Amino acid sequence: MRAVGVIGAGQMGAGIAQVSAGAGYHVYLSDLDLAKAEEGKAGIAKALSRLVAKEKMSAGDAETLLSRIEPVASYEPMAVAGLIIEAATEREDIKRKIFESVGAVLGDQAVLASNTSSIPITRLAQSSPDPQRFIGVHFFNPVPVMGLIEIIRGLATTDATVDVVRQYGEALGKQLVFANDAPGFIVNRVLMPMINEACFALGEGVATMRDIDTACQLGLNHPMGPLTLADFIGLDTCLEITNVLFQSTGDPKFRPAPLLQKYVEAGWFGRKTKRGFYDYSGEVAQPTR
Ligand code: 3HC
Repeated sequence: MRAVGVIGAGQMGAGIAQVSAGAGYHVYLSDLDLAKAEEGKAGIAKALSRLVAKEKMSAGDAETLLSRIEPVASYEPMAVAGLIIEAATEREDIKRKIFESVGAVLGDQAVLASNTSSIPITRLAQSSPDPQRFIGVHFFNPVPVMGLIEIIRGLATTDATVDVVRQYGEALGKQLVFANDAPGFIVNRVLMPMINEACFALGEGVATMRDIDTACQLGLNHPMGPLTLADFIGLDTCLEITNVLFQSTGDPKFRPAPLLQKYVEAGWFGRKTKRGFYDYSGEVAQPTR
């Protein structure tokens, strides 16, 4: 397999394109239009220039990596890709439309994958041309830095499909874990209740925002506290995943914290909107309560 298609040139898609090109694959990168795909590539160029400035990558290697990323205006060029990874907005209707469209060009032996963080793989596979060649490939943000990929098999996914993704993940140098198609898979099943509980604790006045974050960061040796991490992931995404856990299990332990819902209703989604639990408009993030 020499070529990979990546659909969605946002934070996750661009990261996936970067690590795929870094492993030597030719990457066809698409988004809603060519301009957005090119914007994604420009963001990768910026990240690489920071690595070059820090002398972690040579200018030549950065240039070679970038030359392997080809922004495309349609899915047609992806017909030669052995693996196509969808990393679009976390909405089922959007993803289904993508699978129907890209399914028309998917090669006979090629695998179609979704980077969904919570939508059941078996259900998404119904919109692909061949559920046997459909699989979940869940990356973590920031993709170039995080060492893990979760691989999720749908009910119909074959061993041959798992092997294609296994070889790809190993070529990227990532650690692979294999999860069943259960709500939240592994990481979000464990992470989202922690973030949600931190929101309950904040809402109930257990401690200040900073102290909840500091307590978990230093007390658990995590790189970020849960509220900072929620802002980093996106509060809308956290709420969406928590809702999937709650609705698909019916278990009240997953019910979303009212404060998390409030922040999402306010459009305070975290870093991407410059305001979430913290306000990011100044040099130093400030708690919003
Ligand atoms: N390409 C390559 N390297 C990059 C990079 C890129 N695009 N962006 C950053 N890096 C490197 C930097 O060069 C730096 O390397 P160095 O330590 O050797 O100098 C390193 O990554 C760390 O970057 P920074 O110095 O800018 O930042 P921090 O040291 O503050 O770390 C962080 C930032 C990596 C985000 C860290 O705080 C962290 O690990 N946070 C937790 C992230 C996390 O939990 N992510 C998972 C979220 S859950 C998820 O994604 C699932 C979804 O479904 C919700």
